[in-house]
Amino acid sequence: MNTFAADVLGCKIPLILAPLAHLASNELIATIANAGGIGTLPVHRLKPEQTRERLQQIRSLTSGPIMVSFTGEWERDENLDVLLEFEIQLAMVFWWNAPRLIHRLQAHGIKVGWQIGTDDQLSDALSRDADFIIAQGLEAGGHVRSPHRLDDLLTLIRNRTDCPVVAAGGINTPSRAGQLVPSAASAVMLGTRFCASDEASNSDSDRTLLVDAKRESVVLDTSLRGDWPCAFRRRLTTGGDLDIPERYANTNVSEIESVLPAAQIVADFAKVLNQ
Ligand SMILES: Cc1cc2nc3c(=O)[nH]c(=O)nc-3n(C[C@H](O)[C@H](O)[C@H](O)COP(=O)(O)O)c2cc1C
Repeated sequence: MNTFAADVLGCKIPLILAPLAHLASNELIATIANAGGIGTLPVHRLKPEQTRERLQQIRSLTSGPIMVSFTGEWERDENLDVLLEFEIQLAMVFWWNAPRLIHRLQAHGIKVGWQIGTDDQLSDALSRDADFIIAQGLEAGGHVRSPHRLDDLLTLIRNRTDCPVVAAGGINTPSRAGQLVPSAASAVMLGTRFCASDEASNSDSDRTLLVDAKRESVVLDTSLRGDWPCAFRRRLTTGGDLDIPERYANTNVSEIESVLPAAQIVADFAKVLNQ
């Protein structure tokens, strides 16, 4: 049994669903929690009453462990009160909201993972006592903050701290997860792989784009847009070249050969992660 999964995450399999903006359906979150991993609800732009409704619906599907993730500085503080109503034990912070929220979450007994991509961001997370670090390598789909390949980032972190580390970015196969856990990280976090699952709330044609994508279909879009200053996105150029979460994908997307039920994906990874 992986002690980080049991003692910190409160789950059986050291596998976390990455926050996937509006692609994280209640069914996807609950299925992963029921399968032994951690289901993650991004409170991305949700009003407190919407967060309450989402958590009620998720709780009707699972009593398993749920993590709530905060992404941007616009996210509403009132959402914290809703987490307490549902006795949420885990949260994840990223970007500007991390210094603002971490101690407020921890004051309620919530364990907090801080997603980082650089040495400076690691310093911030350690100086504010993150319970665990989420290392986002440059391979990651979506908004990317790291100039470092995941393996290099994990080495950088290990040379500085014994704080538990979750590896994220470009992990699509059980064999890759097995290279990382337990030698270089305590758990993995998967985003793009679950975008190609039956329960993700993208369309069949979006999922087909992911399964058909080649390595050269993925770019790091450095144009600055919307309300995410300095936020580069790793995304597909196929399917109309749209800058939307449905097109986010990691550098290794060509490894994803089929759309699968999320429980099957978790079970395949569990064979490697729970040895
Ligand atoms: C479709 C999609 C949406 C994402 N949305 C968010 C988000 O709302 N908040 C966040 O902190 N990270 C978000 N991310 C990035 C993840 O936190 C994570 O770093 C990344 O998915 C892990 O890499 P992978 O996609 O290579 O597995 C998103 C990633 C994808 C692919």
